[in-house]
Formats: sequence, C-alpha cells, structure tokens
Amino acid sequence: MQRIFIANWKMNMSVAEMETYFQEFSKNSDFDNAEVVVCPPMPLLSLAAQHCAELGIALGAQNVFWEEAGAFTGEVSPLLLKDLGVQYVLIGHSERRQYFGETDQYVGRKVKAAIKAGLRPVVCVGESLIELRTNRTEDVIEEQISAVMRGLDPIEARRVIIAYEPVWAIGSGMTPTGEQVKEVALQIRKLMGDLFSLKIARDIKILYGGSVSPDNVDEFTASYVLHGALVGNASLDANKFSSLIQNGGGIRTASNQQEDTTPLHEGDFA
Ligand code: PGA
Repeated sequence: MQRIFIANWKMNMSVAEMETYFQEFSKNSDFDNAEVVVCPPMPLLSLAAQHCAELGIALGAQNVFWEEAGAFTGEVSPLLLKDLGVQYVLIGHSERRQYFGETDQYVGRKVKAAIKAGLRPVVCVGESLIELRTNRTEDVIEEQISAVMRGLDPIEARRVIIAYEPVWAIGSGMTPTGEQVKEVALQIRKLMGDLFSLKIARDIKILYGGSVSPDNVDEFTASYVLHGALVGNASLDANKFSSLIQNGGGIRTASNQQEDTTPLHEGDFA
C-alpha cells in the first residue's frame, strides 16, 4: 500500500531556510512506497514547486479560498494554486477553525472548489480535549465529516483525503494510541459507507496527525485502515522528516513490511 506523508510547515521557514531544507532533504528523499507532500507557506509555493519537481515529491498548500477570482483581499484561488503546480491542499485544519473562524460550512465550500480545480483536499477533523473528556469524539467526527461530505457526489468524494487530527494532540507531544486512531478511522470508513458506498469506504485515504515523530509514527502507519501521517513540528527538520517517513514504512519493500493486511469486509462497517 502506498503511504502518504504530508509536511505542514505552518507559518515557518524563510526563503533561505527552505533552500537549505531541500538541499538536506534531497540526500534522502527517494521513497519507493510513499507519496511525500510538502506544504510551505503560500509565498514560498512557486520556489518550492521547482524543488519538489526536482525531487519527485508533491506540493501542497495550507489553505485555499472557495471562489475562483474576485474581490477577496488576501485570499488565494484554487485555480492559482493549480497553476503553481500544487496538487494537495489542507482544508479545515484545527488552527484555521480555531483562529480564523473556519466552520464546517466553509470547509465544505473549500473542498468542493478545490476538487473542481483538480486539487486533492486533505480535510482535517478531530475532537478537542473537552470533547475527548466528555466522550464526544464519535459525535464530533460524524458532524465534521457529514457536513463536508454531504455536499459531494461520489466522484468528488473519492478525491478527498481525511486527516484525523485530535486537537489536543497537535503540537502537544501527546497522542492517542494506535488502537484509538484505528477505531476512529473505522468510524470514518463506516460513515463513508453510509453516505456513499462500500467501495468508497474501503478506498478513502485516511491519515493520522498530531505530534507524529520518527519514534511513534509506526504506531499510526502499521494498520491497513490508515495510509500515513500529517506532520507539523517533526517536518520542519529535513532529516527528521526523512527518518519519520522511513520509520513509517516509506522505503520498506512489500516483503519486509509487517503491516496488518487483513482485508476489510462489509461486516467491518456494520
Ligand atoms: P504537529 O502538528 O505534528 O506539530 O503536532 C500536526 C498538524 O498540525 O498538522
């Protein structure tokens, strides 16, 4: 199974720092079995696009607007992202929800616009600490996923990647167990099955994000129900990000992977 590792640099990195980063990353950026995506801040996209093309890795953006053009000061069109060589876009990251008032409705509109422009949306969902403590994880995931997915047809839905990122795990050094993440991933698949089809439930790509490091990544990538990781802090250091990909199964061949390959069947979603 091809894994996906997405670096979310957030509001970090200067032009010079980025040059050094890619120089360093190029020494160990060749992964047979992994799609590597780097999401730099918007103004670095064009420069990063050249590096990504050279390294054979993908470029992502951290945000997008839902309109294609017009009087929307400070926003960025999905068409422009596409023009710059962007392939993936993070939508509904909890920092955008928390600091910029991004609602499920906005997330839904952005996802639709991104797909229309030919981008692959990476939709971030996850519960806060209070929601975790009051056992609301399942409800929150259901609300966030259905709000976004309800507006899509099955062809659009297939383009979406879901990143399960518990808000309390982001940047905190705390993580759920692999087993807990797997449970949420199965819930997401069940929801997709209810909304669309069993095929989409099986095929949709699900990532885990929140304090992923080279030391814990295998816990979240070993399962057949998860496809990789969305990485903040640990992606800011090129060598650390390379080791993370490697430890997450990025360069292992199929014969020595010890993943859970039990096929999913209908009963899993009942
Ligand atoms: P973190 O961030 O890896 O620093 O916890 C993850 C994210 O916010 O996507």
